[in-house]
Amino acid sequence: MDDAFKPSRRAFLKGSAAVAAGSVAGAAAADTPDPLITELQDWASYTGAGVDESPYGMPISFESHVVRRNVEWLTASPISSINFTPIHALDGTITPQGCAFERHHSGAIELRKEDYRLMINGLVDRPLVFTYDDIERFPRENHVYFCECAANTGMEWAGAQLNGVQFTHGMIHNMEYTGVPLRTLLQEAGADISPDKWVYVEGADASSNGRSIPMEKALDDVLVAFKANGEALRMEHGYPVRLVVPGWEGNMWVKWLRRIEVVDVAVESREETSKYTDVYADGTAQKWTWVMDAKSVITSPSPQMPIKHGQGPLVISGLAWSGHGQITRVDVSKDGGITWETARLGKQGDSKALTRFYLDTNWDGAPMILQARAIDETGYVQPTKDQLREKRGENSVYHNNCIQTWYVSAEGIAENVEVS
Ligand code: MTE
Ligand code: CO
Repeated sequence: MDDAFKPSRRAFLKGSAAVAAGSVAGAAAADTPDPLITELQDWASYTGAGVDESPYGMPISFESHVVRRNVEWLTASPISSINFTPIHALDGTITPQGCAFERHHSGAIELRKEDYRLMINGLVDRPLVFTYDDIERFPRENHVYFCECAANTGMEWAGAQLNGVQFTHGMIHNMEYTGVPLRTLLQEAGADISPDKWVYVEGADASSNGRSIPMEKALDDVLVAFKANGEALRMEHGYPVRLVVPGWEGNMWVKWLRRIEVVDVAVESREETSKYTDVYADGTAQKWTWVMDAKSVITSPSPQMPIKHGQGPLVISGLAWSGHGQITRVDVSKDGGITWETARLGKQGDSKALTRFYLDTNWDGAPMILQARAIDETGYVQPTKDQLREKRGENSVYHNNCIQTWYVSAEGIAENVEVS
């Protein structure tokens, strides 16, 4: 071992002994003989793996269960399908690209930067075609935003359905994007940016996933992004360039972005008429529901994250987000919404990004009916399932932001349930 590492290893052992003797409930008392402490272990007896074993790192094999998963019966084919972020097992707010959910309508395409072109046409003074290199020459910005598929939680309208927060709420990811404001490219082309105009955006894949965006939003915070969490977008997230439409439904975040057309009226494409339209209880449909309203969910405990340590200190943790801006408060209930405690935010929430919350509590071992409810900067309070169903009925798909309920048994097992 390199000499330089010796002092820090001793320091580490001192540190861990202090924890064992300290205040953590359930930890073994320092005087209990523990072979992991008293005996020399293999990993300290031999040298470890060399640095170049895998030039691009994967998580350690012990974490191999923290992966995206599918719901087999949900879609007929994996080409037009979805997988789910393992939000039950993540902490903090950033979603690593390698386990972020994917949603494709006609499969993910492999598009080289050299073959990439982005056209701006329609109501513009100068129709333009950008190469990838051209886009990198505009001033860029960094922002963290959540991307939530409008269909997230869409299987839960008619009753508690899927037993895992990965499946009920995992059509979401939260990344730090690097990109050029759409407004910059519109200005470059001399676009007509009057407030009644629209921007029609489409992708290079077979589905094209075309969507119309009102000019006010296009000029506000939409990004033409080429990096996520510091590195190139993964192919599945739209390499080399995707649109980021903060706070608005994931379907508008066009991947493999190839064309931006400035138009007089909304195009009313398939993706914004027969799909991604909300149905009401009386069968009528609501045109244009773009913003993802405030929502939260407890990620642990949850069906995939049982309580394993018995009664005593328990960290209840979850995620909250709002397409209207910042999360200002999250409340947690242990009795199905009768009484509420205010949770602690991991850090002050970014606007239109995931916010982590914690309730540091003491579990008495009695069953709990756990719920979280988010409140955003507009004062909007996340609704109950019944409140949402009053308007939307049970046959809706999109924009289900209701309060989620987990029943936690005395054994610490959590289950997806409903309360009314
Ligand atoms: N863009 C294109 N070109 N093709 C698509 O199939 N899917 C949309 C959107 N953009 C899609 C697309 C949908 S419905 C969602 S929810 C998001 O991309 C998902 O982004 P992700 O795959 O990076 O998670
Ligand atoms: Co979607």
